[in-house]
Amino acid sequence: MRIALASDHGGYRLKEFVKSLLQSLGHEVLDFGTHSEESVDYPEYAAKVARAVARGEVDRGILCCGTGIGMSIVANRFPNIRATLCHDEYTARMSRLHNDSNVLCMGGRVLSPDKAEAIVKIWLTEKFEGGRHARRLSKLEEIEKAVCEEGGLDEAS
Ligand code: RB5
Repeated sequence: MRIALASDHGGYRLKEFVKSLLQSLGHEVLDFGTHSEESVDYPEYAAKVARAVARGEVDRGILCCGTGIGMSIVANRFPNIRATLCHDEYTARMSRLHNDSNVLCMGGRVLSPDKAEAIVKIWLTEKFEGGRHARRLSKLEEIEKAVCEEGGLDEAS
């Protein structure tokens, strides 16, 4: 796969680890930074990856910050992004089976390298189950459309 990768300073070491892992697995990696542990603002880096995934320039994205929380908040503001913050093998697996995750978010201050490797490998290989989960994702798209294009903040859905 062609995978976009980015981090802030809190996720920099994990991002470098994940980059090596992805390359060793034969994936093409686009590294959008950051390139050191100097303090930066995570929204800028999350936006670069989310935009590339939303535009179809890459197959998937991976984002690392201290907790993974900030990255997931930003990425999920983009259309067609299903960014999932995963802490373990179970959340990684479910994020693919049920949520068709296209952006994986992880916390560099939360995960050991071994745990991150297990998460990434599962997230890369598990397949979306479809069925009732596809129905739920289409509802998600309807909500996004109503909120973004029709100013649907009054809807109770
Ligand atoms: C940076 O200190 C930290 O806030 C950031 O990496 C991330 O955890 C935000 O959600």
